[in-house]
Amino acid sequence: MSQGKRVGIVGAGNVGATVAYSLAMLGSCHEIILRDNKIDVARGKALDMSQAASAVRSHTVVSVAEDMSDLVNCDVVVVTAGSPRLPGMSRDDLLMINASITKEVIQGIAEYSPNAIIIMVSNPLDAMTYVALKESGFDRSRVIGMAGILDSSRMAAFIQEKLGYGGGQIRASVMGGHGDDMVPLPRYSTVAGVPLSDVLSEDEIDEIVVRTRNGGAEIVGHLKTGSAYYAPAKSTAIMVDAILKDTKQIHPCAVYLEGEYGYKDVVSGVPVMLGANGAEKIIEVTLDEAEQEMFKKSCASVQELIDSLNKNNFFKGK
Ligand code: LAC
Repeated sequence: MSQGKRVGIVGAGNVGATVAYSLAMLGSCHEIILRDNKIDVARGKALDMSQAASAVRSHTVVSVAEDMSDLVNCDVVVVTAGSPRLPGMSRDDLLMINASITKEVIQGIAEYSPNAIIIMVSNPLDAMTYVALKESGFDRSRVIGMAGILDSSRMAAFIQEKLGYGGGQIRASVMGGHGDDMVPLPRYSTVAGVPLSDVLSEDEIDEIVVRTRNGGAEIVGHLKTGSAYYAPAKSTAIMVDAILKDTKQIHPCAVYLEGEYGYKDVVSGVPVMLGANGAEKIIEVTLDEAEQEMFKKSCASVQELIDSLNKNNFFKGK
C-alpha cells in the first residue's frame, strides 16, 4: 500500500465532488475517497475524476468508500454532508438535523481515521464545526471550518467588480462566523497593497460589505435549487492543500476559541496558520471598537445555535 496522502470526502454532492475535482487537478494527494449514500453516483463521479486526473497527468486516484469503515487512515477528511433547508423547516430544525448527521459522520471519522484533520463545510458552518470538535474529542487544531477563505474571496471579487481593475492583486479580509453577521474588514483589505479607502468611497465600501454578507444568498437567488459550490469547494481545496503541503500559510478559518479575541467555548472565523498539524497557530488581529462590536455580534449568533443544541440535550453524556 502506498504511503501517499489520503483525503476522505464525506458527501459527494456539488460541494464535495468539486472539492475532489479541485484536489485531483492540484495533484497534492495520492488518493481521494468519496463517501456518499448515493453510492452509484459517487462511483460514477470517482471514475470521471480519476480520468480527468489522468488527462492532466496527475497521479491522484479517486475512489469510493462503500461505508465509513473504508474511510481509513485518511490524513484529511472533508465533511460536506448535510440537509438543505426544506419548506416548513425552522432554522432550529435544520440545525438539529445537520447536527445529527455531523455527529454520526464524525464518530465514523474518529473511529477509522483517528489521526485525520477534519475540515467542516456543512452548514450552519460554525455550529457544525463546534459539534465536530465535541464529538471527535480531537484537539482543536485538528477540527477546522471552511468559510473565511470563501467570504474573503467573495469580497475580493466584489471589490474587483466595483473597481474594474486589480484582479489577482486584491487581498480582502473577512472574520467572524459564516452567517449574516460575518465581519468583513475593509480596513485590512488592499489592492496591490493600496488601502481600499484610497481607491473607493465610503459608500462603495459599505455596498461591498453588505454584498459580501449576502454573497451566499445572492447565488441561491440565481440558482434557485441549491447554493454555491465552485468557490466553497475551491476554498476548501486551498485549506487541504496547505495542510498536505505544510505551507504554514495564513487563512481565515473557523476554529474553536479558547480565550482568543476574548471568547471561549465558541467557534468563529479568525486568521489561522495552516500546516501539517492543522490550525497550528491562531493570529490575533487588532480590531477597533466598531470591528470588535461586529465580532461580538457574530460570536453571539453562533452561541445562540450552540445554546439551542444544548437546550435540545444534543451533547448529553459529553
Ligand atoms: C454559501 C453557503 C452555502 O455561502 O454557505 O454559499
